[in-house]
Amino acid sequence: MNVLVLGSGGREHAFAWKLAQSPLLTKLYIAPGNAGTAQVGINLPFAATDFAAIKQAILDLHISLVLVGPEDPLVKGVHDFIVGDEEIKHVPVIGPKQYAATLEGSKEFAKEFMIRHAIPTAAYFTATPDNIQESFYFLSQQKPPFVLKADGLAAGKGVLIIDDLELAKRELESMLNGKFGAASKKVVIEECLHGIEMSIFVLTDGSHYVTLPEAKDYKRIGEGDAGLNTGGMGAVSPVPFCNTELLQYIDTHIIKPTVDGLHADGIEYCGFIFFGLMVSGNTAKVIEYNVRMGDPETEVVIPRIQSDLLALCVAAANKTLHNQTIQLDSRTATTVMLVSGGYPGEYVNGKPITIGNTPDSIVFHAGTKTSENHAVVTNGGRVIAVTSYGNNKNDALALSYNSIKNITFDGMYYRKDIGFDL
Ligand SMILES: Nc1ncnc2c1ncn2[C@@H]1O[C@H](COP(=O)(O)OP(=O)(O)O)[C@@H](O)[C@H]1O
Ligand SMILES: [Mg+2]
Repeated sequence: MNVLVLGSGGREHAFAWKLAQSPLLTKLYIAPGNAGTAQVGINLPFAATDFAAIKQAILDLHISLVLVGPEDPLVKGVHDFIVGDEEIKHVPVIGPKQYAATLEGSKEFAKEFMIRHAIPTAAYFTATPDNIQESFYFLSQQKPPFVLKADGLAAGKGVLIIDDLELAKRELESMLNGKFGAASKKVVIEECLHGIEMSIFVLTDGSHYVTLPEAKDYKRIGEGDAGLNTGGMGAVSPVPFCNTELLQYIDTHIIKPTVDGLHADGIEYCGFIFFGLMVSGNTAKVIEYNVRMGDPETEVVIPRIQSDLLALCVAAANKTLHNQTIQLDSRTATTVMLVSGGYPGEYVNGKPITIGNTPDSIVFHAGTKTSENHAVVTNGGRVIAVTSYGNNKNDALALSYNSIKNITFDGMYYRKDIGFDL
């Protein structure tokens, strides 16, 4: 079968790398892809949100499955578009419809869902310009630090954590006044949770699910988790503190009630769910849902899946995931992200990248492209994710850091302390 992957990051290269190994695959296309996806499939020159071009590609290239990487096309309704079009509605889409994508697109929607289905999460109150006094009251009842979240998508920048109550009140007002545009017309105020963050992922057909490996990512630009937030600077899977008891808790109290809750609410869902968790001892609370895989977590999670990912996707589309089991590699996988100098602030694209021998790692491209003279050049803040396996995180990381010695581009930066807290 021919498959189309939408997206252009490290996550999509990891998907493409894995799908390319499937005996079920005939041809693999990625739109728009990057210089890495071009090594394992055929890049198509249109954006992941260009619905007309997606339709044309499905027809011309006889695509029989579409896998959506990023949230943007999902929130814009790519799944609804495909199933709503007579000519292409037979093509299954891995990735939820627009309404289900609201689990990621609106923090308030997600909180209401969790409360309705008794899924453990932080207490919250939704602030709007009409209830400012009640919002201040809820805020004043919380222990610092104060957590303020823009309701809508804000490119990972919409969450503020503030120590001082008066400052939190001022920030709340400024958010409601449009600090993050339409995304912060509503603000979810949350109780502050304490513990260690971790993520876990499932692939679901709306009734059944297979659980993928858990992972921990590193969001800050600086070592010791200092400095500005980024899309993610590295990841580790499995997470050493995640024992069977914790996994059991997460399955019983979080994953199963989520999938059952979607079903009970009549929300069709075919695709991946990302659970952002705050772990404390052997229990956890949900910080957020994402309606797709995380990046760079995918670059450690996918390499740990031994089963055929395409077979799992086909089963998800056919609603037969209950007939599937998932085999995992027990080794640790780590990834270290190489980023452009200046990121997450200003940086310059188009820097030539040299990749030498890296036999001990998988080099996933994130922000790269092939230039007109066939050179691989930088094309984004996060450029390359270097993934390795090991018997433990230290062995795996040693291989990633060793491989990085053979990769260079002008201004390249990476964190040398991924996994430091584990
Ligand atoms: N209730 C909370 N208590 C403590 N920290 C939180 C809480 N909610 C969010 N955070 C922190 O803020 C980060 C971003 O919040 P999240 O809900 O994941 O929003 P987004 O990923 O959309 O920016 C989390 O990864 C976590 O570090
Ligand atoms: Mg998050």
